Amino acid sequence: MGQLTQHVVARSIDDLIALDRLIVNQLGKRYDVHPWGVPEFELDLPGKWDHSWCATDPATKVIVGYVVASEFSNNVHAHRVAVHPNYRRNGIGIQLFNQLFAHAKMTEFEYCTAQVPYDNNAAFEWYLRHGFHVLRKAELKWYLEARGVTGVPEEDHLESDGDRHWVVRYPIQRLTSNLPTAIDDSQTEAT
Ligand SMILES: CC(C)(COP(=O)(O)OP(=O)(O)OC[C@H]1O[C@@H](n2cnc3c(N)ncnc32)[C@H](O)[C@@H]1OP(=O)(O)O)[C@@H](O)C(=O)NCCC(=O)NCCS
Repeated sequence: MGQLTQHVVARSIDDLIALDRLIVNQLGKRYDVHPWGVPEFELDLPGKWDHSWCATDPATKVIVGYVVASEFSNNVHAHRVAVHPNYRRNGIGIQLFNQLFAHAKMTEFEYCTAQVPYDNNAAFEWYLRHGFHVLRKAELKWYLEARGVTGVPEEDHLESDGDRHWVVRYPIQRLTSNLPTAIDDSQTEAT
């Protein structure tokens, strides 16, 4: 598990693009119909190189999971989260977020948010099981204003450009430890 820095992105851009494309092909609009390429992975956003993390297969050195995040106000937003299908249910997704939370907690960030396509029940349930809450109307207004993005807040989801998303939020300061938990070095290693 390591930080997804500009250097790591440059070095592993082919892995990142291949993994993203695989998930796009499998999930379509439950993930995003637009695969990310070099411009999206290399795009410089506030705090992106502090808040983005990746997991690497220790044997092959290939990136098998990532969370790409940036900051808005004193919050962190996860733009993209993916673990390769062959590596799922090993705690990599949890470790990626634990790493993000622990780092963000030390630098006093308040919340971590993510948008989940309305049809992606598996990811939505996964976030809820891991301590995220779904934002409702008043909180959705906070989210839109704080991030400076457009959309229409409905009772329990966001409508924007004809798409529907859940917005989920985790209270970073509730994390009890500054250290990530449940790191399994047999699955991942620092990059
Ligand atoms: C959502 C996603 C990132 C989760 O990744 P993951 O690495 O499989 O997540 P984890 O292994 O941490 O957790 C998955 C489950 O495995 C379980 N698990 C964790 N470690 C385990 C282990 N060593 N052995 C068995 N099970 C384990 C967890 O308890 C969890 O169970 P739950 O789903 O019942 O809560 C992954 O499914 C994914 O890439 N999905 C497609 C992309 C996507 O939908 N992204 C989000 C779009 S908004």
